[in-house]
Amino acid sequence: MRVVVLTGAGISAESGVPTFRDKGGLWEGAKPEELATPEAFRQDPAKVWRWYCWRREVISGAEPNEAHRLLAEMEREFDLWVITQNVDGLHQRAGSRKVVELHGNIWRQRCTSCGRKWEDEKACMGIPPKCPSCGGLARPDVVWFGEALPGEAVRKSFELAGWAEVFIVVGTSGLVQPAAQLPFVARGFGAEVYVVNPQPTPHVQIADLFVQDKASSGLRRVFYELQNKGPS
Ligand code: APR
Repeated sequence: MRVVVLTGAGISAESGVPTFRDKGGLWEGAKPEELATPEAFRQDPAKVWRWYCWRREVISGAEPNEAHRLLAEMEREFDLWVITQNVDGLHQRAGSRKVVELHGNIWRQRCTSCGRKWEDEKACMGIPPKCPSCGGLARPDVVWFGEALPGEAVRKSFELAGWAEVFIVVGTSGLVQPAAQLPFVARGFGAEVYVVNPQPTPHVQIADLFVQDKASSGLRRVFYELQNKGPS
C-alpha cells in the first residue's frame, strides 16, 4: 500500500520540542518577521543565529518519540514516504529513510556568498559562522517566510501526493503553504486522507478518518487501521 505522511511540529511535541502556534509555542515569545525572514537576517545576523542556536540546544536534548519510531516501523511494512515541515531531523534519527524535508534542516548551514552547505553544530555560539570555502557569512539552511522552498523537495512532495493511496497528516495546523495543500491534492487524486491531531484543523473537512489525539497514540490507531485494511 502506497502511504504518504505529512508531518508538522506536533509530531515532535512529545519529544519536548515546542510547536510554533500552540500556547507557549515558538511564535508566542518571538515574532516570525524578526527571526525567520531574510530581512531579519540581513538586519541582525547574530540575533537570528542566537535564536537558531537556542532551537538547536532544545532539539539536541530531544529524542525521537514513539510517533517518529512508528513511522520508521511503518516504512518497513508499507511503501511509505514522510514529507516533513520540521527541520529537527528527528524522523531520520528514528530510522526513517524516505524523508522529504520541505523546510530544510536546522543542523545544516549554507554560505550566503558561494552557496556551500555543511553541518556544524559547534558553530552555535550565536556568532554567525563563516564559510570554510570562501569566508562568506553562513545562514541556517532552513526556509524563511517569503522564501521559495527547495525546488526538488516541492516537486517530490506533489509527485507523492498524486501517488499516495493513503495520505496521513500528523501534527500540523495546516496554515502554511505549499505544505498545507498537499492533502487536498492527494484527495483530488483519489487518496484516502487520515488526520491525526489533538485539535481540528482545515484538513479535517476532507478526512476519511480524523483521530483527535496526540501523534503517538493517534498513529498507533492509524497503523492498526492500515494493517487491517483489505488489499488495495
Ligand atoms: N501530537 C500531535 N499534534 C500535536 C501535538 C501532539 N502531541 N501537540 C500539538 N499538536 C498540533 C497542534 O494542535 C497544531 O495543530 O500540532 C500542530 C502544530 O501546528 P504549528 O505549531 O502551526 O506547526 P506547523 O503546522 O508544523 O507549522 C508549519 O509554520 O512557522 C512555520 O516553518 C514553520 O514548519 C513550520 C510551519
